[in-house]
Amino acid sequence: MNEDKSINKELFKLANSVMEKAYAPYSKFKVGAAILDDNDNYHVEYNVENAAYPIGNCAEASAIAAMIASNGTKIKAIAVTGYGDLLCTPCGGCRQRIREFASLKIPIIVGNEKEIKRIFTLSELLPSSFGPENLA
Ligand code: THU
Repeated sequence: MNEDKSINKELFKLANSVMEKAYAPYSKFKVGAAILDDNDNYHVEYNVENAAYPIGNCAEASAIAAMIASNGTKIKAIAVTGYGDLLCTPCGGCRQRIREFASLKIPIIVGNEKEIKRIFTLSELLPSSFGPENLA
């Protein structure tokens, strides 16, 4: 339990530390994400927008791509951070992206520039979800 707590803190710190690097000139909303994978590697990314607004990359999607690129196959925990007091929870699309590579019990740590605000499980954020096993 204490180990989990320190992992949550570490993931929060990592997401928070890269948030400022985000390329978000259109929305001006910078997001950081950090994943701990099944090889105990960390993957830390941020959102990258472009002039064709809808095709920008969310921080979580970038972190998942980094995990796959370095042979991670499962998300053990993920932190997402954004500035301000409102919860920077993963968007709907990213909830499904996380679902592809995670158990429903994993912690999703949500924070801002100062602190961890809430910790959700994936099943709380994406109840009754559709996943890879539906296609098996
Ligand atoms: N964004 C993320 O990176 N992750 C989320 O889960 C929420 C939204 C980004 C996308 C866009 O670059 C900006 O935040 C505003 O929506």
